Amino acid sequence: MTQFSRESIRPIAIIPAEAALGAEVRCGRLQSIDDTIFGEIRQAWLDNLVLLFRDQTLSDAQFLEFGRRFGPLKSAAAADSHNELHVVSNVHVDGLPIGIQGHGEIVWHSDMVSFSKPPAASLLHAIVIPPSGGDTSFSNMYVAYDTLPKALKRKLAGLTLKHEVSPDSAESGTGASHPLVCTHPDTGCNALFLGSRFNTCINELPRHESDILLEFLWLHATQPEFVWRHRWRVGDLVVWDNRCLLHRREAFASNARRILLRTQVEAGEPPRIAADALERPVHRRGLALIGR
Ligand code: SIN
Repeated sequence: MTQFSRESIRPIAIIPAEAALGAEVRCGRLQSIDDTIFGEIRQAWLDNLVLLFRDQTLSDAQFLEFGRRFGPLKSAAAADSHNELHVVSNVHVDGLPIGIQGHGEIVWHSDMVSFSKPPAASLLHAIVIPPSGGDTSFSNMYVAYDTLPKALKRKLAGLTLKHEVSPDSAESGTGASHPLVCTHPDTGCNALFLGSRFNTCINELPRHESDILLEFLWLHATQPEFVWRHRWRVGDLVVWDNRCLLHRREAFASNARRILLRTQVEAGEPPRIAADALERPVHRRGLALIGR
């Protein structure tokens, strides 16, 4: 019989998904992990962009505590609330919604890009999941950048994207502007930062040129080869890096119930592009797709 010493049994296993991003982490109960294990989780998150932990049963406080290990949590946007916990749900109780975002499709986006400092991370914990639909997909924006032609990378390095503009007047926009390519503060690699498909325009280009370029970039960035699709189970906890991926959610039946808890981690700094961005190394996740 094989003998295992205590040291040979690793308390954490990281299993990359067969996709351009994503990994499942097996490390037992998240409320019991120590700082060494969390260090490995954080590195796995930077390496894989999105992590899945199965079979978790965290109280609200434990969920927030786990989120806080990634950094300070964002408070809810509502001025009268400092709550760091949000409910993502279509369920109504006594005629009132218990959460946000309903049952419809949520198209590709990064979270809260119209703010000057969009969150660094978002976490979702599944409490009730419908029998079908409501899957969440993630697309790798490092690989989206790294697979572009060199001449286009040079062009994009000088461009910024304004968010929440009206269809005909960029001046009326209320959202922040961010570089179209951002250099990740922790990995040092470049990622496309498209944020939101609608109501955006490139500040430095005439509107029709901006629309054509954005149409191309969105088609490129959401191609199936760059995507990992997650089918939820009750107890799943997913944490993603909002600075280097897009995500979308599929619709589900309006009479089905879906309840997830969400919290978001503040970014230390606004999105930036490094002065030497064109010399930066490629991110290794999804390397197989580069140079196809
Ligand atoms: C979101 O887009 O933040 C929600 C994702 C989901 O409901 O799965």
